[in-house]
Amino acid sequence: MNTFRVLTLNNISVRGLERLPRERYEVASEFTNPDAIIVRSADMHRMELPGSLKAVGRAGAGTNNIPVGALSKRGIPVFNAPGANANAVKELVIAGLFLAARNICQAWEYVRGLSLSDKQLDEAVEAGKKKFVGYELPGRTLGVVGLGAIGVEVANAAHALGMRVLGFDPQITVQRAWQLSSGVEQALSLDDLFSRADMVTVHVPLLEDTRNLINAARLRLFKKDGVILNFSRSGIVDEAAVLDALNAGALRAYICDFPSARSKDHPKVVALPHLGASTGEAEENCAIIVADTLRDFLENGNVRHS
Ligand code: MLT
Repeated sequence: MNTFRVLTLNNISVRGLERLPRERYEVASEFTNPDAIIVRSADMHRMELPGSLKAVGRAGAGTNNIPVGALSKRGIPVFNAPGANANAVKELVIAGLFLAARNICQAWEYVRGLSLSDKQLDEAVEAGKKKFVGYELPGRTLGVVGLGAIGVEVANAAHALGMRVLGFDPQITVQRAWQLSSGVEQALSLDDLFSRADMVTVHVPLLEDTRNLINAARLRLFKKDGVILNFSRSGIVDEAAVLDALNAGALRAYICDFPSARSKDHPKVVALPHLGASTGEAEENCAIIVADTLRDFLENGNVRHS
């Protein structure tokens, strides 16, 4: 019976690794000649690809940390787990909508900055109530760019909150979008979406044609006081253009999962350390799906994409 060596490049949930039975799989974070690699966000682009490699499993959705082209030239499949962390990302995006609409981070900062007596605190609370007046989500329009597993989850949740949802994904038909999420109206184009939405969230992979998809020209079409949410990849949003718009008072907030030196202290930016899929549940789902697909490939030769 064949045995397989699986190299893990990041911490991978044990619930997933348990799917690879010990009598057939050796799993370790160091191997010179692995049959398969399981990776989360480690950058494989500079890694020398072992000659023994037969498959790569990405415990997540995006594959931009993996040299997919070089691997496919060698006939090595890359299996990812799209959708396995969609709920986790959706929850954070929805939290982001509330953060922006209710000025939660700014108000919290304000309170933390107070060092006053009780009487002065009462006055500061009154002043804060006026300063941080927010708005409610029902009736507002959320533009969802990309209607894959995550985009659809976000669209359905926003619709359930009473938001109008405007979707754009050139890769799917209007009918398909309706099947996936009955609350989504399809925008005619990205520009159309920007000119009608109050808040825009992006859920597309980072590719050559999605780099800087949110740029100065699109931001000019956007409503004053609009909000951009980016829980996808940093390169999809032209950060310099977003900062310009924030500084000019044309944008209310930028909520993202990618801190950068120039934006992290900006009062209208909330940047998280790539937490979208960082829940125990999502990490487990991704690891289980990837371990199962790798196993099916290594043992049975099946190329199954989830
Ligand atoms: C993904 O591509 O699945 C997400 O960015 C989550 C992650 O890998 O941390």
